[in-house]
Amino acid sequence: MRRTFFILLATLAIAPRLRADEGMWVPMLIGKNIDDMRKNGFKLTAEDLYSINGSSLKDAIVLFGRGCTGELISEQGLLITNHHCGYGAIQALSSVDHDYLSNGFWAASKTDELPCNGLSVSFLVRMEDVTHRVLSEVPEGCPETMRQQLVQKAISSITEAAQAEGVGFRAQVKPLYYGNQYYLYLYQVFTDVRLVGTPPESIGRFGGDTDNWMWPRHTGDFSMFRIYANAQNEPADYSPSNVPYRPKRFLKISTQNLKEGDFTLVYGFPGSTQQFLTSEAVELLVNQSNQHKVGLRNMRLAIFERYMRQNDTIRIQYSSKYAGVENSWKRWIGESIGLNRLEAAAKKREQEAMFQSWANASPERSNRYGEVLPRLRTMYQQIAPLALVYDYRQEAVNAIEMMQLSSRLDQLVRKSLNPTTSLQELQQLQQRAKRSVRQFYKDYNFNIDLEVCAAMLSTYAAQIPPEYHPETLIKAAQRCRTPDEWMQLAVEMYSQSAFADTLGLMALVSNFDSTAARLLLNDPVYRLHHDFETLLGEKVLKHYFPMQDSINLLYRSYVAGLMELQHDKTFYPDANLTLRITYGKIRGFEPKDGVVYAPFTTLDGVAEKAAMREVHDYRAPKRLLELHQQRDYGKHAVNGTIPVAFTATNHTTGGNSGSPILNADGNLIGLNFDRCWESTMSDVMYDPNYCRNISLDIRYVLFIIDRFAQAGHLIDEMVIAN
Ligand code: ARG
Ligand code: GLU
Repeated sequence: MRRTFFILLATLAIAPRLRADEGMWVPMLIGKNIDDMRKNGFKLTAEDLYSINGSSLKDAIVLFGRGCTGELISEQGLLITNHHCGYGAIQALSSVDHDYLSNGFWAASKTDELPCNGLSVSFLVRMEDVTHRVLSEVPEGCPETMRQQLVQKAISSITEAAQAEGVGFRAQVKPLYYGNQYYLYLYQVFTDVRLVGTPPESIGRFGGDTDNWMWPRHTGDFSMFRIYANAQNEPADYSPSNVPYRPKRFLKISTQNLKEGDFTLVYGFPGSTQQFLTSEAVELLVNQSNQHKVGLRNMRLAIFERYMRQNDTIRIQYSSKYAGVENSWKRWIGESIGLNRLEAAAKKREQEAMFQSWANASPERSNRYGEVLPRLRTMYQQIAPLALVYDYRQEAVNAIEMMQLSSRLDQLVRKSLNPTTSLQELQQLQQRAKRSVRQFYKDYNFNIDLEVCAAMLSTYAAQIPPEYHPETLIKAAQRCRTPDEWMQLAVEMYSQSAFADTLGLMALVSNFDSTAARLLLNDPVYRLHHDFETLLGEKVLKHYFPMQDSINLLYRSYVAGLMELQHDKTFYPDANLTLRITYGKIRGFEPKDGVVYAPFTTLDGVAEKAAMREVHDYRAPKRLLELHQQRDYGKHAVNGTIPVAFTATNHTTGGNSGSPILNADGNLIGLNFDRCWESTMSDVMYDPNYCRNISLDIRYVLFIIDRFAQAGHLIDEMVIAN
């Protein structure tokens, strides 16, 4: 025991300044890493990556939509991102007559490009450390509520001033390290974005859910858009007179050969990580949260699957829902396995023991940090039962699609019963509700939802203590013992509901008034949702969210202490959907005993998988298979085949999808689109032996555009930098 303690103390004290490959670095501070990067092969400077005054690579990168990354690849505003990032836009533009999901789409000229309603891209104008400005008015030792008010006030004035700097500017101030620091992020947002090209799903989503989070991978996960601006090159809403945006910077493309060990840099918008979680938090995540959430999704996926296999209409209706449910389900399973394998909780406990003895060693430190970990421990004990109910609210109650529909009508019902609501507001809400109802039923199947409802309610009743059961559920639980009885209950509830009659509901919403609102309030489906929300709002959310806030406050001290303790270490803030740099190397790995993964895949693998005819996810376009069979690769051939994807050690997470992966010269070699299943614990703990991101090789993109789609005019816009 003492020995481990001593060794740990020694490693902490002389901890290397940087841990190999781990880290989502802040571009503005990349100077701290640049020596290490250059040692690993990088040839550019910190200023090349991020420059305050001149143009730099950061100007070629955008936040795509609300949660992906994209990058500019021509001087005419041409942008590339993942297919799964463009999916929503492509689906919205698709119809039976123009099924771009199934058939792909390639604009022959700019006039053929398709405007994407509601899609925007954001360029980072600059980031700025505004910690001093945010905290300057906060007196030492001031109460937390007062601190929050002062912080909010400072943030508002900073963002307001920044937004006034330019057309289409949008500013955000976000806390880093749980509020030890604050950064301003100033964006320029473009809203005229048009679809330029996408391969069919059988390339862009090849492998589907079967291969999701998995290696070896053969997905051509890309789609292309173009940003349009007004005559002054400024953001403007869609107009036929807008012109292609001229970016400050775009990426050059490298088709040079890649080999294991090559330097790689991913520049993008990772969404969220939790590297500082304590041992109790990790245990709560693995032993409670992930376990229950995975269990609930198992049931839902099994029901979806049974129906989807029977009927093609249902398969199409539920394919996107299934993919969404499956994506996190699989990630949670991988994350728990990975955290257990790493013995993450035990490692965290060792670090906590170290922190505690360091804190106890001086009266001043003990004063500031001595109570932090014990309090966090108590907080986690207190929040655990509430967190369980919270998870069931998200994953059981809200998994019932009728509950989702009820929630979308909620505001309309409440506002129409409130006499102070203006007619105009009511009409707006009504329009929105009409749209929701129409969209909802387009991809809805009653039988699936009935089964989900029965399964979710019975599981909720069995797993969650009665004090969190609304009246309606208590009555139901008294009646229902068997799955059949729960199913019977669901059938009764749905058949007595206004929601069972699609046209009727549409008519009700179209002529909405307070009578309609009261009718819904007595509707069995709407009531169930309403009762759940009221009860859980009062008994769970009201306590759960403030407890989360208190936990975050304790982390603010914990992280401040860790930074003081490990003052030699270069820290990186948890991902928060802001621009980050992560660097590593192309590398395979050994995911389990007896298995070695090579870092590259090729078109041969696409054909191999396509030959497994029984796997629907492996259907590939006939034309692609013909090109493969005839080895008709033209100038794109590499060692007699076409490279498709590769793995590297870059530390990435959700949001990094579509991120450019750059070589040592800063040229584009691929698009990040996934992580290996064995890596998914890296949101909490990174391990260089297991953590691999998955990227699409840019040479596959060029081959698909040129030989498969015969859209070579798009390649002519790009700059190949060999
Ligand atoms: N796992 C990747 C991500 O988290 C890809 C998801 C889309 N692909 C899919 N087959 N569902 O977003
Ligand atoms: N596919 C994920 C995304 O959409 C990236 C995978 C990951 O979580 O690393 O951002």
